[in-house]
Amino acid sequence: MKIAFFSTQPYDKEYFTKYNTNHELAFFEAQLNEQTVTLAEGCGAVCAFVNDVLNAAVIKGLAAGGVQLIAMRCAGYNNVDLEATKANNIKIVRVPAYSPYAVAEHAVALILTLNRKTHKAYNRVREGNFSLENLTGFDLYGKTVGVIGTGKIGQVFAQIMKGFGCRVLAFDLIANKDLEAKGIEYLPLVKLLPQCDIISLHCPLTDQTKHIINANTLRLMKPGVMLINTSRGALIDTRDAIHALKTCHLGYLGIDVYEQEEKLFFHNLSEQIIEDDIIMRLMSFPNVLITSHQGFFTDEALTEIAKTTLQNVQDFEAGKPLVNKVI
Ligand code: NAI
Repeated sequence: MKIAFFSTQPYDKEYFTKYNTNHELAFFEAQLNEQTVTLAEGCGAVCAFVNDVLNAAVIKGLAAGGVQLIAMRCAGYNNVDLEATKANNIKIVRVPAYSPYAVAEHAVALILTLNRKTHKAYNRVREGNFSLENLTGFDLYGKTVGVIGTGKIGQVFAQIMKGFGCRVLAFDLIANKDLEAKGIEYLPLVKLLPQCDIISLHCPLTDQTKHIINANTLRLMKPGVMLINTSRGALIDTRDAIHALKTCHLGYLGIDVYEQEEKLFFHNLSEQIIEDDIIMRLMSFPNVLITSHQGFFTDEALTEIAKTTLQNVQDFEAGKPLVNKVI
């Protein structure tokens, strides 16, 4: 089957080419949107990523061009209009789990960097500045960590934090019995928030979770709390987070995802004027650390993403049950 890849980066080309056996792969750097949808004409499948636009108009355009399958090369699918895929008889598959360790470990990297300020120390020492002034951190041992969403990634994260000697609290719609057996306590969100020194978001973006972190929930948190988001940008109302940073109520913010990331992340904009004043404000805080959606970015995860996506397309073509179908 011919597959049109959108938002292709060099590493996508490398891994998909390496594991492809029998499909024709057409790689486009362009984001999938209403302007680029015609590039998929004549392809049976499109392979899209987190910031591609899969709204009703795009899906209609894909169907008109002969596309029967959308293969997401990621776990999340909040950017896909599922009703439109049904209406246009397009199936949608994804990679539900490629490496929960990759994302959970990246969340821990954000915590350790924000806390021990290794990014600042690295730059200082390179400039011959061996002062420790303002590099004070805190022991993770004995601190209380809140995990919002204890699915595949959240449960790995919870266990890593247990390993540091933290007390781990969790909030989810469904309690995970294995985690409870390991001493992780589930609480309603309003009870969890005031107790935590660190809060990490691992739930998907849905109508219920959009802006789950807002002025009201921020107010419930401990002054000086560290907030980590490696899940989806819109879980946090960014303007409210900026306000909480300005009042010093929010002590640290580590994000791998950002509400308006589509126009920024995965691109080298170092020679351009960045027009997004919100991210520029965020970047101005000394206690904010931003990475550009790299939580998934390990060799193991890229291998699994390529293999599973190609197998998803293979199964569709062979008329086999789609084990990774979204709906
Ligand atoms: P999962 O589906 O295994 O777990 C999600 C958990 O969130 C489930 O336990 C679910 O019950 C819970 N949940 C759903 N709605 C909730 C609500 N309203 N309140 C509280 N909990 C709720 O998903 P997984 O694999 O752990 O991934 C989590 C998220 O991580 C994905 O949805 C995606 O947005 C993000 N992600 C980020 C990546 C990155 O590179 N930064 C890479 C992969 C995923």
